[in-house]
Parts: sequence; C-alpha cells; structure tokens
Amino acid sequence: MDIIMKDTELLEEARKARMRAYAPYSGFMVGAALLAGSGRVYHGCNIENASYTPTICAERTAFFKAVFERERDFLKIAVAGGKKGEEADKLCAPCGVCRQVMMEFCDPEKFQVILADGMDGHRTFTLGELLPYGFGSGNLV
Ligand code: THU
Repeated sequence: MDIIMKDTELLEEARKARMRAYAPYSGFMVGAALLAGSGRVYHGCNIENASYTPTICAERTAFFKAVFERERDFLKIAVAGGKKGEEADKLCAPCGVCRQVMMEFCDPEKFQVILADGMDGHRTFTLGELLPYGFGSGNLV
C-alpha cells in the first residue's frame, strides 16, 4: 500500500496530541503522531508522575499504543513540544530513551523523525542521524 501523509499533516496531528499532555511538574507539553505502515496514525503525549522517574514521553506513548495494536512497521513520527501556554515552535528532539525504543522497531536508515521548527517550519531526520551506531536486535545475533 502506498501511504500518503504529508509531514506537515502529521505534525498537525502531533500538535493536537500535545493538548492531551499531563505535565503538571515540568509544564512542558509534548505531542507525537506516529504513522504506521498500515496507514494508521497513533497519537501520544507525555504523562508525568509525582515520583518523576515513571514519566513517559509522548513518543513512547505513541509507540507503545501502536505496538499493543500489533503494529510492527513504522514510517515516520512527528513531534511538537513546548512550554504550557506557549506555541510548540522550537525544535523538540526525542530523548535518548525514545530513540532507543524507535531503534527496536524501525530501520534507522528509513524511519523519519519530523520535528517542529517554528510555527510553519519543520526539520526531518532519519533515526540513524539522531542515533548513530544504535544498538538493535541485529547486534544480538
Ligand atoms: N518529553 C517528551 O515527551 N518528549 C521529548 O521529546 C522530550 C521530553 C517530556 C518528558 C517530560 O514530561 C517533559 O517533556 C520535560 O522533560
């Protein structure tokens, strides 16, 4: 199946997902929209915790929802983050843990990470650019 979803459309979904963020401690709200090979889009937001460590990022929320739904093939993810009450206009790059989760399910040469950069702009990276020499299941064989 040929999947047509523009980067700008996926980013718009990420901005909508950001509105669901539960971030009472950092006040930093993040949304993610993950496009699977099936054509479905999975949304995620960051969900914080009073004990801090259990906090989950928007990207992993989206991935874990999708994997639960038996998705294993992913094309791209869009991310938009920023302080509560402000626009998500600055680059919000995925943390190291989220990059490692992407590495589990995605081809680093093909999977694309689209980051909001300004209100109208965005930058697109491959996972391999964000996580060079990443450790994956291939290392264990
Ligand atoms: N956060 C994300 O959800 N995704 C990112 O790409 C960076 C950071 C969240 C985690 C935490 O709730 C808040 O942003 C501040 O670090």
